[in-house]
Amino acid sequence: MAKVREMRKEDLDEVYRINKESFTTDAWSRFSFEKEFENKHSRKFVLEEDGKVIGFVIFWVIKDEATVMTFAIDKRYRGRGYGKLLLREGIKALGNRVNKVLLDVRKSNIRAINLYKELGFKVVRERKGYYSDGENALLMELELN
Ligand SMILES: CC(C)(COP(=O)(O)OP(=O)(O)OC[C@H]1O[C@@H](n2cnc3c(N)ncnc32)[C@H](O)[C@@H]1OP(=O)(O)O)[C@@H](O)C(=O)NCCC(=O)NCCS
Repeated sequence: MAKVREMRKEDLDEVYRINKESFTTDAWSRFSFEKEFENKHSRKFVLEEDGKVIGFVIFWVIKDEATVMTFAIDKRYRGRGYGKLLLREGIKALGNRVNKVLLDVRKSNIRAINLYKELGFKVVRERKGYYSDGENALLMELELN
């Protein structure tokens, strides 16, 4: 059974491996993940299946707004609903204080965009040249409560 739980420092080897295989440009450094444990705005979750970490999501929560900073599922486990489960349960775990969830996604990342739309996210606007390789981002937003 897959379950969502808080990320711990011991998860970082697996989290970092999934990050590396998931993002070719703009992948986070190991140091960036470590710094999240010192950041009071950061809320971090992993998805565990049979004791193994198969995905992660990191939010920054400021007042009533949460932003998805990074989110990925192990390649071998994609397309089975795990991404949707992790994001949905992660947002729930942030609690009632959060009224809005924001994220940026590459315009070409149709799989992620579909997942976000299924959870109720709407496109707010396009951000030109947002990524280091020049690709545009879609800013998406989910209103809660
Ligand atoms: C985006 C990502 C997290 C999705 O995880 P996942 O576990 O594969 O997603 P799910 O299986 O929950 O799929 C959810 C929805 O995505 C869409 N989807 C899944 N596979 C798809 C495909 N091959 N093509 C298009 N859409 C697809 C569907 O809408 C699907 O819903 P449904 O199958 O229930 O109708 C995963 O692909 C990933 O780690 N990608 C690399 C990192 C990344 O892009 N992160 C997001 C950065 S903003």
